[in-house]
Amino acid sequence: MKILLIIGGGIAAYKASELIRQFRKAGHQVTPVLTAGGAHFVTPMTLAALAESPVYTSLWDLKDEREMGHIQLSRTADVVLVCPATADLLAKMAAGVADDLATTLLLATDKPVVVAPAMNVRMWLHPATQRNIAQLKADGITVIDPDDGAMACGEFGPGRLPDPPDVMAATLLRIGASSPSPALVNPVADALIGHHILVTAGPTHEPIDPVRVIANRSSGKQGFAIAAAAAQAGARVTLIAGPVSLPTPGGVARIDVETADQMAAAVEAALPADVAILVAAVADWKVTPSPVKLKKGDGPPALAFSPNPDILATLAASPDRPRLLIGFAAETNDVVANATDKRRRKGADWIIANDVSGDVMGGSHNQVHLITADGDDPWEVATKEAVAARLIAHIIQTIHAKTPLT
Ligand code: C5P
Repeated sequence: MKILLIIGGGIAAYKASELIRQFRKAGHQVTPVLTAGGAHFVTPMTLAALAESPVYTSLWDLKDEREMGHIQLSRTADVVLVCPATADLLAKMAAGVADDLATTLLLATDKPVVVAPAMNVRMWLHPATQRNIAQLKADGITVIDPDDGAMACGEFGPGRLPDPPDVMAATLLRIGASSPSPALVNPVADALIGHHILVTAGPTHEPIDPVRVIANRSSGKQGFAIAAAAAQAGARVTLIAGPVSLPTPGGVARIDVETADQMAAAVEAALPADVAILVAAVADWKVTPSPVKLKKGDGPPALAFSPNPDILATLAASPDRPRLLIGFAAETNDVVANATDKRRRKGADWIIANDVSGDVMGGSHNQVHLITADGDDPWEVATKEAVAARLIAHIIQTIHAKTPLT
């Protein structure tokens, strides 16, 4: 993808360097445009070195109109990203002002525009800025909402630029939604119409007594994001969720369960499915729960564990086996080796492996490996939504390619 990156004049401009690095690492091209304000915070030299591209700063640089005039510059990209977008730049965009290179390009472009505002919290909350944001949204511009947090100016609240991976993911999603390009990271709308996709998500709780359970730290975020992306692509989605406090994504039929046994039964009842994506962190062991609350005075309980059903392995061996069966592997060491072994042992087509030794469980980002019969495909760090979109895009490709599954 080709990204025209307009860098406004705010302290968050320093993050533009990291953003360029991330886009480049993911194989995208970046052409930076630096406003006069932005040039107070980052130098064209830094941006040019990271982007391996000329950096444009002034309308009057573009001497040779035939070679690279402002119209052409605004249209050779797949998307125009304004990051950081200052209050001033947003106001000019909303009013249609074109008094420098950046604003002229924004007025001349026929490509999707994404803005990532970053400013002082009062400036962000000011009715004038909010009015401009509403106008930009009405004009079809994608606005990446700023994060809450401590700001360089010492105040606290909304106005911080989101982290570069989030800005990158939102920008790529915007292109995926509007362009049928092969480098797509967002599911093609309606590509899964007529397909039933089964997703398990979250932890299971195995009761010990009426008030105590054995649990794990799974938040359900990754599985819910996958269910949401599948529904957006037109699939009929059944989401079997362990105990989590997440809203049900639009267009998804959700079945809440507590234990592994209940999850196994719900999966069986939901068959047949074309694709099953088992993301849940199912407890490996259960105990026979005491019907009454265990008393502290009786001393530590001697819990007798027995194995839970392995839903993935059972599904792989079932006559109703989905055509594409995908498992997850949360590992803290030897991630790829363990997941490769798990794929074979459990009979899954793909395993999405992730290293959960950091703060992946409960966090908003994930770094995964797609393990297939062809080997290991490491994906760059991304939000759980972006991982979900990429997985669904991969499923769409596989289903529509009609090639034998790997
Ligand atoms: O063996 P492990 O728990 O690491 O395997 C992880 C994969 O297997 C995940 O896809 C998980 O949803 C699935 N699984 C299952 N039933 C179990 C244990 C794991 O479906 N009892």
